[in-house]
Amino acid sequence: MGFSTDAIHAGQIPDPTTGAVITPVYLTSTYAQHELGKSTGYEYGRTHNLTRQALEKNIATLEKGNYGIAFASGLAATHALMNLLKAGDHVIVSNNVYGGTYRLYEQNMTNYGLEYSWVDTSNLSNVAGAVKKNTKMIFVETPTNPMLALTDLEGVAKIAKINNLVSVCDNTFMSPYFQNPLKWGMDIVLHSTTKYLNGHSDAIGGILVTNDEKYHERLRYIQNAAGGVPSPFDCWLVLRSTKTLAVRMKQHEENAKAFAEFLFKSGVAQKVIYPGLKDHPQHELAQKQMRGFGGMVSADFGTIEKAKKVLNNVKVFTLAESLGGVESLICHPASMTHASVPKSEREKYGLTDSLVRFSVGIEDIEDLIKDVEQALQ
Ligand SMILES: Cc1ncc(COP(=O)(O)O)c(C=O)c1O
Repeated sequence: MGFSTDAIHAGQIPDPTTGAVITPVYLTSTYAQHELGKSTGYEYGRTHNLTRQALEKNIATLEKGNYGIAFASGLAATHALMNLLKAGDHVIVSNNVYGGTYRLYEQNMTNYGLEYSWVDTSNLSNVAGAVKKNTKMIFVETPTNPMLALTDLEGVAKIAKINNLVSVCDNTFMSPYFQNPLKWGMDIVLHSTTKYLNGHSDAIGGILVTNDEKYHERLRYIQNAAGGVPSPFDCWLVLRSTKTLAVRMKQHEENAKAFAEFLFKSGVAQKVIYPGLKDHPQHELAQKQMRGFGGMVSADFGTIEKAKKVLNNVKVFTLAESLGGVESLICHPASMTHASVPKSEREKYGLTDSLVRFSVGIEDIEDLIKDVEQALQ
């Protein structure tokens, strides 16, 4: 089926009791058993929930995967992944990832004997060169948050296969509408469903998708054993939202392209970063591995004073953490999303104090452009 047809129907059938077209929110913690040792197949809410199963099937289909395993947040999914490893194992990670991912790995998981190398994965020879005897996983984010640097997914998947490593891609920024990492040979895709998949800024969630039975089995076990599951209502909210993912993403992209071009041509920013701009150093790779360029734009305004002027004076953009909702958000990564990354680390990849990140929403583009113009005045 086409993307929109899958987005609207995959994982969902009319409710067998009432014919309800929309999958109900199954608010139950437990299920009656027929007799001792004979259940309906549904035993306990942490283990089985029909709304969650529908969501897992839906997103797995959009990611061209067989299995989806949903979690209470993107970070809960990122944490669950670490259960594929054991003390002494080494992971290669993109040096510029979401700040919370950095914090979890570098400040928490290292206490359990895991070792991380922070690598500029946009250069494949860095990835191959970072493989050690104890390396077990490559974790990439592409495009990265907030520098929008790309990693060649096909190349990383090949390095992982040759070295018998599990390869993971955080696909939050592109959503399955614009990028399917499994198609390029990656083993596992991660999403913060909080972002584009939900798209309405009213639920927190995460999901892992894979085609590999053994990773699925282990992650499904961890979902139940550690219990970081999303509520049925949050699953329902995301399931409602994926139905409109295609139309939302098209509009996000149309607006982001026009917005990036405005920033670029008007010269209001010192540097504009958007994979859809021809001057993006990986524009060609973006055209190869993505079906579009997404809705995120970053701009360096040169000085913190100028960045502050924009951040504090916009009226249509909302100054807030997060991204991917229908409403436009603006954020200062250095002090907000990436505050837990040391200044010396983030400046290595260009995340300066004057960098501003725009999550371009689906309002009228003229209003978004005017908003930045008036903020600068
Ligand atoms: C790229 C990326 N991955 C993961 C996460 C974590 O997701 P959550 O906030 O749902 O835990 C975020 C959150 O901003 C993100 O931007």
